Amino acid sequence: MDLWHVRGGKRLTGVCPIQGSKNASLPILAASVVSPARIELENVPRLSDVDAALRILRHLGCRAEQQGNAVYIDSSTCSCSDIPHALMEEMRSSVIFMGALIARCGEARLSLPGGCQLGKRPIDLHLSALRQLGAEIGEDGGEIVCRGGKLRGTRIALPFPSVGATENVMLAACAAEGETVLCGAAREPEIVALQDFLRAMGARIRGAGSDRIVIEGMEPTGRACARIPPDRIVAATIACAAAATGGDVELRGAEAQQFSTVLHFLNRAGCDIMCRKRSLRLIAPGILRGVGEIVTAPYPGFPTDAQPVLMAALLKARGETRITETIFENRFRQVPELRRLGADITVSGRVAEIRGVRRLRGATLTAGDLRGGAAMLVAGLTAEGETLVRDRGHIMRGYEALDLRLRALGADIDREY
Ligand code: UD1
Repeated sequence: MDLWHVRGGKRLTGVCPIQGSKNASLPILAASVVSPARIELENVPRLSDVDAALRILRHLGCRAEQQGNAVYIDSSTCSCSDIPHALMEEMRSSVIFMGALIARCGEARLSLPGGCQLGKRPIDLHLSALRQLGAEIGEDGGEIVCRGGKLRGTRIALPFPSVGATENVMLAACAAEGETVLCGAAREPEIVALQDFLRAMGARIRGAGSDRIVIEGMEPTGRACARIPPDRIVAATIACAAAATGGDVELRGAEAQQFSTVLHFLNRAGCDIMCRKRSLRLIAPGILRGVGEIVTAPYPGFPTDAQPVLMAALLKARGETRITETIFENRFRQVPELRRLGADITVSGRVAEIRGVRRLRGATLTAGDLRGGAAMLVAGLTAEGETLVRDRGHIMRGYEALDLRLRALGADIDREY
């Protein structure tokens, strides 16, 4: 159990380097088994989810190690296509190995994935899309068993732009005969990063970033290098922490256009935001304003992952904010905990209403998921006295050295583990 101690009231100032993206790293790590290759990745954050992906790669017979923020993989030795439950349950993104293993081995056997408890999180869209490519998928004692069948390129229309389903199709389609056209694809920057990496592996693929991705197959290059792009949700979190504390922070390495919807609301809350190439500076007023209506949506809409941290930043804002969560049905798990600090939030179904309060007082909170945990730390930074966040490793799944980075900005925070 990690215990985070935050003593609120410090204004965050200074420069914060933004880590590489978790959600770009994980599918790229899975993609490394699509064909035999030696792979070098730069700017991979040191996270427990990355460790879990590396353990899966080693279980599959690959050589995989992280040195600092570099990851080296040799997937030529991949010799197995099943992932045991103990490894699958460590993280939700392990489901992306399904498409990669079908492409490489023609089969895969894995249990249902773990990850944040944000609601049902089914994988029906993944399975249906892979079946349309020709994969034969069945269930055996709680495990999903995929026999490759003959993969043939086809036209697949996703009824919802699921990030994971889009990634699984991109990976499996690399091994299909003929052209696959994926319509209704997710458009997240992480999908573009995956396309760039697959191209380096020899894939003929285009269209990522739009809702139509075309995959024509792959001529393996045997090696690939990639640099993981900055993490837009971590950047949003630090920006929210700076805004909440009336701070003045430069986010170095951040790509403002990748979380412009979050910056839009921080600006509406009263922050000045100056964007430069691969960096931005946020200067916050002493008291923020409520921002009215926020609705989460698939990219380029407001990211569901940034919703809890923006909520936390606005707890002491003058006026009201109303957040409608459209992506996950259970994404307000932070709310009862934030109320312990004195926050005035009501939740009705998928809508949360936040009325700013003058003071928050430190309390003991329990993190139930990754972004909710980060939100509790952001709120703790603005509460009087000490806030304790009890966390079963959720926060370290997505934030590299968050205690050190916040301390470098002047926060009074430490982590006991
Ligand atoms: C990814 C991100 C996660 C983010 C989410 C939405 C990674 C590693 N994780 O998760 O941080 O919060 O996108 O931006 O990149 N759904 C179905 N059936 C499916 C698949 C999804 O109903 O087969 C539903 C989910 O239950 C959810 C919604 O679609 O309500 C979005 O899910 P999806 O886009 O697939 O999210 P993930 O890829 O799991």
